[in-house]
Parts: sequence; C-alpha cells; structure tokens
Amino acid sequence: MPRERTQQTPVALRRLTTLGVGGEPALYLRPSNGEQLAEALAECRRRGLRWRVIGGGSNLLVEGGPLPCAVLHVQSPGFHFLRADGARLHAGAGTATAALAAFCRRRGLGGAEWLAGLPGTLGGAVAGNAGAWGHHISEILTRVRLIDAEGRARTLSRDELDFSYRRCGLRGVVLTEVEVQMQPRPPAQVARRTADYARRRAESQPLSSASAGCIFKNPPGECAGRLIDRCGLKGCRVGDAEVSGRHANFVINRGRATAADVLRLIDRMRNKVLKRFGVELELEVRHWLAGPRAA
Ligand code: EPU
Repeated sequence: MPRERTQQTPVALRRLTTLGVGGEPALYLRPSNGEQLAEALAECRRRGLRWRVIGGGSNLLVEGGPLPCAVLHVQSPGFHFLRADGARLHAGAGTATAALAAFCRRRGLGGAEWLAGLPGTLGGAVAGNAGAWGHHISEILTRVRLIDAEGRARTLSRDELDFSYRRCGLRGVVLTEVEVQMQPRPPAQVARRTADYARRRAESQPLSSASAGCIFKNPPGECAGRLIDRCGLKGCRVGDAEVSGRHANFVINRGRATAADVLRLIDRMRNKVLKRFGVELELEVRHWLAGPRAA
C-alpha cells in the first residue's frame, strides 16, 4: 500500500481511546476513503493478520502489551461527512455522534436528541448499538454501507442487521456509511430536547474525565451502577484507575492508569457485586486482549 496515502506509523492505542490505555498493534492503518480501506484489508490478508476497527475510541478497553492484530482507524475526513436528503441523512462512519445531534438541532430534525454528549463515531454507535434514555441507534437507522473482509462494498438495510443489547450482529466487516431517517420538528423543540438530554448526561456521568463509558452491562432488571455503588466502591482506586464518584459503572483514568490497573479494579468491582448480591456482571466495553491470549 502506498505509504503517502495511508499512515502506518506505530501508534499506542492509549492515544486513540477515550479511556487512555492500550498498547501498540502489530500494524496501524488509517485509510482515507473506502478504496484505501479495501487496500488495508488486502494488506492484512497478505500479512495473515487479524484486524480490528477503531473509530472514536470510546467503549474500548485495550490491554497494554503488544497487540497481535492490525488496527484500522476509520476516522479520516473521507469518512467524516453529513448530507441531508430531506429528513434522511447520509453520514460517514467516522462522523462524530455529537455532530449528528448538532446538525439535527440546527435543522429542526427530531430523533437524535438523545445522542447529545454521547462520545464516539456513528460507525461505532451502530456497531455497538449505542443507546441512552430508552433510545437506540437502531430506531433511526435505515441502511448501512460497509466493506466486507474481501474488500467488497455492500449496502444492508436495517432489517438485515440483528440488533440486540449493545450489539448489531455484524462481524468481520467495516462500516463506512450510515443512513438515518429523522423526523421534521420545530427547531426550538429539538433544541430544548437536545439540551435536556445533554444536561441529564452531564449530571449523571463523569463526562469531563477519561473513561470508556459504562464498564458492565446492566443485568436483567438491575443497574450495574447501582449495585457497584451499593458495594461502596465509588472512589475506589487501583493506581490511577478510579471508580467514578458520579456514576459507579464508570472507571475513570486519573492520568497515568494502565490497562492492568483498570482490569484489577474491574475484577474488584465484579467480585464485590458477586459476593454481596450474587449477580455476575458482564463486560459492556469491548475488551481487546494483548499477547498470546489474543490469538
Ligand atoms: N445509580 C446509582 N448509583 C450510580 C449510578 C446509577 O444508584 O453510581 C442508579 C441511578 O440513580 C438510577 C439507576 O442506577 O436509578 C440507573 O442509572 P442511570 O440512569 O445512570 O443509567 P444506567 O442504567 O446506569 C444506562 C446505560 C448508559 C446510558 C444511561 C442513560 C448501560 C450499561 N448503561 O446506564 O450507557 O448512558 O443508561 O440512558 O446500559 C454506555 O453504554 O456506555 C452507557 C453509559
């Protein structure tokens, strides 16, 4: 792949994740458009490397050692666009979710107000079926464009995806574009709702600290944050990793936390909740392993 078109310099993932931890992948590629993405996938095939995708780097817990995989970073300007066709919007997978919320607010388009303050990209939001306040990205999604592992561009309608709690059912593909259907609404109403959701999020979540978002899934009928809170773990620390005082299902990085610190803290949270409530918490963040265990 021509070097001048795709960055290949080593990059520690702690610089690309919102939690700020994570080691170096075997290969880092930042394609500028769909064609280069297909070339990047071909390069991975040639080298026999498994690959993973990163967008805004939220919802990710990456271990600290060398990662035996390639990382494809889908966030170049070529994946960062928003076009309106009436109330139907076409957006690059690298577009920030917050940019979609702001665009809709300016144009009086309802349905994305709850995205206000949600970190990450639209590609990541679809891949992880992002949700908040009873809403999910799958409600507004109509189609996705993607590149499959063989480098072929494909379009899938919403019904061809298999959405569940923080999952979209797609594997081994890279999203390149999403299409969402919004509802025309009075701009003042959209602006008010967007501000309300942003305020609720800012009041209940540690938005100004480095974090990966919620660490654990909510167990059926319960809230992981409430269980962790009731174990008295807010403020509990391992190194620079700390259970947020604002929301106990968030681990924040106070500056120099390592992935090992975060993992030890998470183990402590899981063990305490198991012991006290008999509930086994499951990770909600994607956990990328380093070293031989990742193979
Ligand atoms: N609670 C506590 N202590 C805490 C945190 C929460 O007692 O430290 C209580 C709250 O008082 C509330 C209940 O637990 O009664 C639920 O809390 P909250 O409304 O904050 O929602 P959540 O269930 O903890 C979920 C999603 C969030 C999403 C919010 C808002 C999961 C795991 N979490 O959190 O998503 O932003 O609802 O809708 O599904 C994420 O995906 O990363 C994420 C943060």
